[in-house]
Amino acid sequence: MKFLPVLLISTVLASFSAKAVEITITCGPSGSDVEFCLKHAQAWAAKTGNTVKNFSPPTSATEKLALYRQLFAAKSGDIDVVQIDTVWPGLLKDHLIDLKPYSKGVEAEHFPAIVANNTVNGKLMGMPWYTDAGMLYYRTDLLKKYGLRVPQTWEELTQTAAKVQAGERANGAKDFHGFVFQAKAYEGLTCNALEWVGGHGGGTVVNANGDITIRNAEAAKALNLAASWIGTISPTGVLNYEEEEGRGVFQNANALFMRNWPYAWSLLQKNDSLVKGKVGVAKLPGTPSAAALGGWQLGVSKYSKHQAIAADLVMYMTSASVQKTRAIHGSFNPTLPALYKDKEVLAANEFMGALEEVFANSVARPTTATGLKYPQVSQSFWNAAHEVMSKRTTGEEAVAKLESRLKQIRRKHW
Ligand code: GLC
Repeated sequence: MKFLPVLLISTVLASFSAKAVEITITCGPSGSDVEFCLKHAQAWAAKTGNTVKNFSPPTSATEKLALYRQLFAAKSGDIDVVQIDTVWPGLLKDHLIDLKPYSKGVEAEHFPAIVANNTVNGKLMGMPWYTDAGMLYYRTDLLKKYGLRVPQTWEELTQTAAKVQAGERANGAKDFHGFVFQAKAYEGLTCNALEWVGGHGGGTVVNANGDITIRNAEAAKALNLAASWIGTISPTGVLNYEEEEGRGVFQNANALFMRNWPYAWSLLQKNDSLVKGKVGVAKLPGTPSAAALGGWQLGVSKYSKHQAIAADLVMYMTSASVQKTRAIHGSFNPTLPALYKDKEVLAANEFMGALEEVFANSVARPTTATGLKYPQVSQSFWNAAHEVMSKRTTGEEAVAKLESRLKQIRRKHW
């Protein structure tokens, strides 16, 4: 009977390897995104006997969406697990599977608003993975040196940035800038511009009833102020910055303020960061402060040949233990309220507790009201903002033109 255990083991191995498949996931490509995403995907692979392959997407959320839409239009099975931006579930609903049969109700442990956002016609299109809100990063050492406080309005930020920039440049730091942010013509600019407009009391471009609200004096003023930053407190190159370009400048100690998402925090604390230990995080300026709500979910392509296995990977990647590691080592905001009470998570990211109010009150982009037309609305908005900042038009002209453009897009209804 000695051969029995050997036989059993080989049968188990044979069935294991017969079922093992390769799952393609879109991790990265920038920051710590790729590092953590791949690390956990590989841990899942080791546990299950499957293998994972990375399909590295472009950095910009806009280009990512274009790529996915292209692959989905071709019914391509090239990607099994897809990263889904908070503004996409409605747009991609026809190409993603319902995760409910696989989630076993675990979504109830996540923030209800995110689950609701990810649910289209009763189907769960993505499991919440991490949430995002715009934040103001600042140099604690420099504010102290110049005796200045964290700015409360965008006007105050402008003045503070100008003073410190002048001082630092006079001390020989020729490449020093007051403020870096994301102003390339893409989805990131929509987030930034919403924060300036909202922070001036100028609304959300389209309101919850679907009314086009952007043509107002506060919105125009906010865009004009942003235009005044270009080439003064901000480098002209900011007009081509996504998230990572600004982080590079700030992390090399070449800026006083940076607008970015939470992921930047952990990278700024690394040993190779020139600003390690000199960075504070605050709510964005504005009355009210209007942080854009962002975040990512994981979903499974309808064209995947291994849907159940891909869904298993999604459940693993979005689990509490993976989210906890990502929060501690990558400062990715969890989507599980319980983790905001976790001592280790809070010790690694003071801001997650201190800025609770920012995350609770962050402002959604107008996707619910504009539905499938959101990408056109967003593109029109970022183009308007980009034109004002490139000094091709004024804030007043831009919001008037944007209003008529949005009316054309809406026609009778969104
Ligand atoms: C972040 C946000 C996402 C947003 C993107 C814009 O990744 O999480 O929601 O669309 O930035 O650049």
